Amino acid sequence: RTVYVNGSYVPENEAKISVFDRGFLFGDGIYEVASVLGGKLIDFPAHIARLHRSAGELGMRFSVNDDELLAIHRELVSRNQVEEGVVYLQMTRGAIDRDFLFDTEKLTPTLVLFTQSRPLIDTAVAKNGMKVVSIPDLRWGRCDIKTVQLLYPSLGKMEAKARGADDAWMVRDGVVTEGTSNNAFIVTKDGTIVTRPLSHSILPGITRAALMVYSEANGTKVEEREFTIEEAKNAAEAFITSASVFVGPVISIDGVELSGGKPGPVTLGLRKTYIEESL
Ligand code: PDD
Repeated sequence: RTVYVNGSYVPENEAKISVFDRGFLFGDGIYEVASVLGGKLIDFPAHIARLHRSAGELGMRFSVNDDELLAIHRELVSRNQVEEGVVYLQMTRGAIDRDFLFDTEKLTPTLVLFTQSRPLIDTAVAKNGMKVVSIPDLRWGRCDIKTVQLLYPSLGKMEAKARGADDAWMVRDGVVTEGTSNNAFIVTKDGTIVTRPLSHSILPGITRAALMVYSEANGTKVEEREFTIEEAKNAAEAFITSASVFVGPVISIDGVELSGGKPGPVTLGLRKTYIEESL
């Protein structure tokens, strides 16, 4: 694979980052994951808008403009011949001798991008759905910023796997916040889709936002409100959204089966709508 590092396209085994990079030492970095279908980027402007927001919230400088970012994405997709997959972008505050204090003006942001080719449409999750278990949400108070501090979500997914599930839904004060790397939805018995409102507790998902627009256009009612894990276990269906999964059916929560233990009809319909509208 060819990867992009600070202005250069290089083979992945030749890419170099400083050991003093604040992304590496402090988790002082932000990222985006944009999907590619048929060699085309999905919802790209929304990902770049969120990257700007993350940078702004952390007082991080931007070293490239949006046209350059688009050009880099396209160049990597083309060089690596990505038909279906994702482009990962990471921007950190930069490299400087280790110190908790920093002077943003003295730092040049580090920018890294790479691609991953993998099927996104015909996947095991799309066909069979996923099992989730609940875990407490022990992340920091600014989960709306897409930082590379992913230790808790990573350990959460490991715990889910050890418990025989595919992912974990995080719960704070009794209500579901989100999945380890996706937004959480339930479908009520009357076919309304429910997802919790945006706040500092969850990431404003690009897929979440797009799906909500497509759903309403489709005549599916969307309700933005909090829901408990108990309500989710009693829902007609449940699903997750993310750039790399699109709409992923959830077939059980903490061992309680939903929609007969297979992907539900409303979820599958929304998945189809999302993919058609995105292409
Ligand atoms: N994760 N919530 C969290 C905590 C996430 O990490 C993600 C994305 C989402 C969904 O956002 P979007 O629809 O914009 O992808 C929600 C990416 C895919 C990842 O970490 O790989």
